[in-house]
Amino acid sequence: MAVKNSRISGLYNKSVAERLAIVEEMVGLSKSDTSRIFSGQGLQTTIADRMIENVIGVYPLPFGIATNFVINGRDYLIPMVVEEPSVVAAASFMAKLTRDYGGFETSYSGSLMIGQMHVVDVGDPYGARLSLLQHRDELLTQANALDKTLVSLGGGAREIEVRVLEGTKNGTIVALHLIVDVLDAMGANAVNTMAERLAGEVERITNGRVLLRILSNLADLRVARARVVVPSQALDTEGYSGDAVVAGIVEAYQVADADPYRTTTHNKGIMNGIDPIVVATGNDWRAIEAGAHAYATRTGRYRSLTTWERDQQGRLVGTLELPMAVGIVGGATKTHPLAQLSLKILGVETAAELAQVIVAVGLSQNMAALRVLSTEGVQRGHMELHARNIVIQAGVPSVAADWVIAEMVKTRDVRVDRAKELTNQWERSR
Ligand code: MEV
Repeated sequence: MAVKNSRISGLYNKSVAERLAIVEEMVGLSKSDTSRIFSGQGLQTTIADRMIENVIGVYPLPFGIATNFVINGRDYLIPMVVEEPSVVAAASFMAKLTRDYGGFETSYSGSLMIGQMHVVDVGDPYGARLSLLQHRDELLTQANALDKTLVSLGGGAREIEVRVLEGTKNGTIVALHLIVDVLDAMGANAVNTMAERLAGEVERITNGRVLLRILSNLADLRVARARVVVPSQALDTEGYSGDAVVAGIVEAYQVADADPYRTTTHNKGIMNGIDPIVVATGNDWRAIEAGAHAYATRTGRYRSLTTWERDQQGRLVGTLELPMAVGIVGGATKTHPLAQLSLKILGVETAAELAQVIVAVGLSQNMAALRVLSTEGVQRGHMELHARNIVIQAGVPSVAADWVIAEMVKTRDVRVDRAKELTNQWERSR
């Protein structure tokens, strides 16, 4: 069910139970859904035991909700599973800032995955390439006969491509790509089955030996893209004009695009927004990470996955494009009960929609990071989070907590002793 309005102010000030009650109401969760989430026992050991080998238990992580997102004119609440503080808050903050200007717009290239077969020991690699292309129709027919369900739903093998890799450590290798529309699945099973079962036929056609038969995680035919445009005044920040912030974000991006040591951190910040949703929905975050960083090198150099520009009206324009091989059927997306609930909270209908939501959150996360880096730096925000922990440790009563946190951050003195002193001061002043 689509949420009517993802704008929730002050969610962080509420208790966990109150937050969950809000989400329950907005999304239409059942009592058993909410108790599964709240109990911290979202995945039973018996189910985990069927998911991987040698299970000894389950390993919980914080499950949060990023608010305020508008993507393609629709409101979304975003489930995020992540251990790092600031991630959920930063994504929500930027989503709030952008929603008045239309939020994020996205697009998707389609659910096409690549299955690879690497053929070695071929005497005539270029001849083999043409033989394979000549047998295109048979290869596609054979591949499609292996997955009648996928074909009946409108998916299946669509095309073949053949590359000749010269001068490798294994001589000349012929790389056959089988391009498969996997629809709402991540696609590994369908594609790997086809690649494995077609290998014999490929050997017959090429007179070579098929060495490897597996999908490529460089899913560059399955990219999702997001774009955001905000006027500079939206970025007005204490001590910095909106124009200065736009200039700072653009410059920060230019540095990230030039220096791989910085690019890595910059792209990591983007993945801070992406991985938590990939994890929350039971998808393969290693596949997404591998695809993202490989895609960032597609011009021959490791570069920023985002771009940040200033348009003629002085507005900030951000884009993000990367492979997004995520599914909403099969694997852990189906077996992990919290993955199912994450999809319910998101209210996405297709893998295509999920992919686009994920990329929009990645863009939001990068915008938040560059805004902070080009203004006050990250430490102030971190200090605030640290201060929140300290007030809990110091037993500061909740009515005094906000004031004590603000004082500690202002004086950059965040300690348990100091929190106790300030609490006494607050009590005396009442
Ligand atoms: C920290 O997890 C992410 C950042 O380092 C990203 C960046 O530097 O752009 C803040």
